[in-house]
Amino acid sequence: MAAENTFAFRGTYYHTPTYGSLDALRDVVLIVQEGKIVRIANGHEETAVQAEFGLAEVRRLKAGQYFVPGFIDTHVHAPQYLFTGTGTDVPLMEWLRKYTFPAECSFQDLEAARHRYLLLVKRFLANGTTTAMYYGSLHLQPNLVLVDSIERLGQRGVVGKVNMDRLSSDDYIENTADGLRDAEKFVTYTMGKKCSRIQPCITPRFIPTCTPELMKGLAEIAQKYGCHIQSHISECCGQVNCVREMHPEYASDAAVFEEMGLLTSRTVMAHGTLLTDDDIRHLARRGTAVSHCPLSNFMFGDAFFRVNHALSLGLKVGLGTDVAGGISPSMLFAQRMAVVNSRCIRAHKLAVSGGTTVTPEMEKDVITFKEALWLATVGGAQALDMADIVGTFEVGKEFDALLVDTNLSGTSGPFDVFEGEDDDQRFEKFINLGDDRNLIEVYVQGVCVKRGDEFLLDGSNVTKSAEEDSDRVMSAPTPAEPETAYVDLAHRADSSDEAASLDVGAAAEDGAPAPESESEPPTKRLRY
Ligand code: GUN
Ligand code: FE
Repeated sequence: MAAENTFAFRGTYYHTPTYGSLDALRDVVLIVQEGKIVRIANGHEETAVQAEFGLAEVRRLKAGQYFVPGFIDTHVHAPQYLFTGTGTDVPLMEWLRKYTFPAECSFQDLEAARHRYLLLVKRFLANGTTTAMYYGSLHLQPNLVLVDSIERLGQRGVVGKVNMDRLSSDDYIENTADGLRDAEKFVTYTMGKKCSRIQPCITPRFIPTCTPELMKGLAEIAQKYGCHIQSHISECCGQVNCVREMHPEYASDAAVFEEMGLLTSRTVMAHGTLLTDDDIRHLARRGTAVSHCPLSNFMFGDAFFRVNHALSLGLKVGLGTDVAGGISPSMLFAQRMAVVNSRCIRAHKLAVSGGTTVTPEMEKDVITFKEALWLATVGGAQALDMADIVGTFEVGKEFDALLVDTNLSGTSGPFDVFEGEDDDQRFEKFINLGDDRNLIEVYVQGVCVKRGDEFLLDGSNVTKSAEEDSDRVMSAPTPAEPETAYVDLAHRADSSDEAASLDVGAAAEDGAPAPESESEPPTKRLRY
């Protein structure tokens, strides 16, 4: 008898179970039941498997079609989609005031928010982002609209209401108590949906706009509900200098976040271009991940994030578009930027050497498209604590997948395929040249949410509208596991200017901790 909600595809599946390798499951029959992969059989077993699962058909992919795991974007500012592709003329701190805060504030118009968020989620799904870690905006209501939009269109999301109780513009700021109350309301609203695809996230925007009282209160909410946490860390000189002035008693952004209780195994910190090796090791011990946002780091970052180096220190690393700091919503573009970023580090090291000899040490930072794909799938899944659910094609995981068609030729597609090119070459062309036109079907939890130009869910799966339900409160689930013991490292009393202008791309090549300042010995040991 045919099992309900069961289907199968026979063909080739590409994925990256280990960093640096691209595995092809060639000519396999992959069976999905209730959203999960339940069997991966050899193609020649098709008839037997079809009978076993009572399937009316096993769909065969055409030559040149492949499945790849859905992309996981670990850092997106949902309301900033409004001005993506514009406003790239100023440094971060000015950019926030000039473009970002006014744009985010305008989402108080809920009709506009509804319209814009549907477009946003559609755009991201169309580009293959099956899971996104979203920042919403400051005000509670538009964030509920964002959650509804994700639910309605069938995407997987970790979503946060942005909190800011200082140093923002006068019309885009909250007081501490209101911020904490609304953050909790947002969490209970989102959890109350009982939609396994959508989880709430505690979101102190970044240290400059959050008082210690707010950050500590948010950490308590995260602990109470077992929530994800997201923020920005050591992104660029302007931001780092600002934090050093505000919190001279702390060695680094990481030390501040540590003291506030915000570094957990469910925390994702964006950027990290100016993290020291000590910081990275500390985040790694906490199980905190960094979202590598190469494109926006080129715009704002002042330094390079070194993926291989961070991974070698045990850090979890995912990939992010950072829309709109990054000007593209495409995770394919982010993957290419990650590769380019890595080669810039190599070029930078060569330039600093003053010579023409590329040493093995210079090559260490270089990543290939395979590693970039790992970051966009497995790395993201690890960062979001979903590594046992998504990221690869394995029995027991949920089927979040993109059906890639490399047969579009001429102007109907972004690249051409020539005679003699094999599957691996076609797939590499897709990663390096492909775009949304190649993604002919998008699956989340075994549901086809987009086929061709059509989004297949019509909104009937939405529980309630934001307005109807903003005050819904559910009882708290079991609190999260307490974090492991604090690690006691010496506080470094850096000169803030020196620390902030550090060229991390060239520094600490041997992985040695930065030296302590000689003129100002440590005055205090911090819990970091
Ligand atoms: N730091 C604080 N807010 C933001 C933001 O919206 N984008 C980026 N790139 N960095 C930030
Ligand atoms: Fe950001």
